[in-house]
Amino acid sequence: MKTSRLPGLHKLSLSERQRLILTENPELLSSGGLTNINADSFIENAIGVFALPIGVATNFIINDIELLIPMVTEEPSIIAAASNAARLSRSCGGFRCECEQPVTTCEILTTNSLNKVSEFLEAKRDFIWNEINYCDPLLLSLGGGLRGIDINEISESNTVLLLHMDVRDAMGANTVNTAGEKLSDILKENGFEVVGTIITNSFPQRTSTASVRFNIEELTDLNPGWVSSFMTVAQWAEIDPMRAVTHNKGIMNGVCAVLTALGNDTRATEAAAHFRAVSNGKYRPLSHWKLTEDGYLEGVLSLPVAGASIGGLTSHHPLVSYLKNHFNFNTYKDVCCAAACCGLANNFAAILAISTVGIQKGHMKLHQKKQV
Ligand code: MEV
Repeated sequence: MKTSRLPGLHKLSLSERQRLILTENPELLSSGGLTNINADSFIENAIGVFALPIGVATNFIINDIELLIPMVTEEPSIIAAASNAARLSRSCGGFRCECEQPVTTCEILTTNSLNKVSEFLEAKRDFIWNEINYCDPLLLSLGGGLRGIDINEISESNTVLLLHMDVRDAMGANTVNTAGEKLSDILKENGFEVVGTIITNSFPQRTSTASVRFNIEELTDLNPGWVSSFMTVAQWAEIDPMRAVTHNKGIMNGVCAVLTALGNDTRATEAAAHFRAVSNGKYRPLSHWKLTEDGYLEGVLSLPVAGASIGGLTSHHPLVSYLKNHFNFNTYKDVCCAAACCGLANNFAAILAISTVGIQKGHMKLHQKKQV
């Protein structure tokens, strides 16, 4: 795409926007993209299809690439806020984002001692690695597979094995649960007692870090003191967990809207994000803001995102497949970066509104659209 800058998009009618941005398949967008037959094959006791609005956030540049980002949300102002923050970020080059390797972890709870488990893993290392990797030869051929096994003594009578798998472009729950159950079987066959096996949604190794800079001088339509008020509101979240929860909720407005549009499991990333927020023993904001020495306002958001471009709904929901192809979300990194950058954009916009005009002014104007 040449540019994600589409000034005046919000003034067009919905069908004009479809024509401008999509060029094909608008009927998928009117129906929500799912038939009753699809719905019946996804879940139990299906009685129909539930639709939500989908829009696009404009103006984003992420890692030097111009990007339109689909967002599904019921809340007015989220897409406008993300697009506006992205517009203001453009003169400094937009957003940067880095993602760790897509390693998803499965936990196996045993009643055996750490020493006994550790000796067994050591003695059978090659056998175990082979058995686990050949559970999923396709993943292996794509460069994924087992990355390591850790052991934790969580109580006097319980040890947990942590099986780390590189799941490539998938979220990986099925992959790691299958591999974990394979290892459980091996343990049981060798006299160990396994109580339970399940993925951990803490995603300790799937951090995405988004960052952005704003040129303070450029925001000339704001009061001269806006940046100091902005920093005070940002600091508020650093010292007050009650504020930090809402600060993080604003981040998740962006993150979850992108993940939903791209057919990802939002609950997994929500659970991981809130675990990360409290990981130092006190609930903290996931993003941090500072003024740089050379006079910019800089924000950094670091959170686990279990983003996927294959598997689950991403492969089976006709509208999600269309959106992934149309907007070029081909890898887990594409998904994670868009989610994290929208989260940071929404966070910037919320702090800016709270510290200047107040959240209700812009927000309520957009809420009134719902009355029609
Ligand atoms: C509303 O959905 C989200 C905000 O409350 C976030 C925040 O307060 O930072 C505006």
